[in-house]
Amino acid sequence: MSVLQQSALRPVYPVRTERLSLRPLTVDDVDALFAYRSRPDVCRYVPFEPMTREVIDERLATQWANTELTDEGQALTLGIEDAGTGQLVGDVVLFWHSREHGGGEIGYVVNPDFSGHGYATEAARGLLRLGFDQLGLHRIIARIDERNEPSARVARRLGMRQEARLVHNELFKGEWSTELDFAMLAEEWLAYRTP
Ligand SMILES: CC(C)(COP(=O)(O)OP(=O)(O)OC[C@H]1O[C@@H](n2cnc3c(N)ncnc32)[C@H](O)[C@@H]1OP(=O)(O)O)[C@@H](O)C(=O)NCCC(=O)NCCS
Repeated sequence: MSVLQQSALRPVYPVRTERLSLRPLTVDDVDALFAYRSRPDVCRYVPFEPMTREVIDERLATQWANTELTDEGQALTLGIEDAGTGQLVGDVVLFWHSREHGGGEIGYVVNPDFSGHGYATEAARGLLRLGFDQLGLHRIIARIDERNEPSARVARRLGMRQEARLVHNELFKGEWSTELDFAMLAEEWLAYRTP
């Protein structure tokens, strides 16, 4: 897919997957977001600290209010909703890092009450579809602390290749973090989604 196709990503919401709806977060999600984003175990290997309701309110009014990607440097955060129950079970994010290089990155968080059902994998697959098929990205990465084994399993289930293991490359929350770098190219995505 040509990088010339990277003009913007303006999804039609909700973005449906087999069991889930991906859609922008709203003020009605504060309680559901607080239920997991306030938990130290959930935040252990992610860049943010446990969140207060005030921080969640502030995010909802700023970066999470973004519903499209129109240029590099932007991020699109979407709620993961169980399409059957309407329950918010987590959230995913797609970063558009570079227009020139067609580069993006994904991240995912699931409420531990809803883990073990494949929701993170299914939602992240939906995000790869948006990044590759709609935005026209060339390469999407995921960067994961080696100790975060459930997250690395998600990346592997998605068909992402492990490209690097960066030993103690970041002092992360007071400890050295060994980073696993995963990636998928547009042509690999095509092969993956049409096996
Ligand atoms: C990383 C994280 C999202 C993984 O959550 P998860 O529930 O393990 O991942 P999934 O939702 O894809 O579920 C996969 C599990 O469900 C099981 N499963 C059940 N039904 C499934 C289905 N239909 N499809 C896929 N997996 C299914 C899988 O076997 C797998 O279990 P396993 O890892 O023990 O083999 C979660 O641990 C989390 O939110 N952590 C905190 C935030 C974080 O660290 N994010 C990543 C930052 S890099």
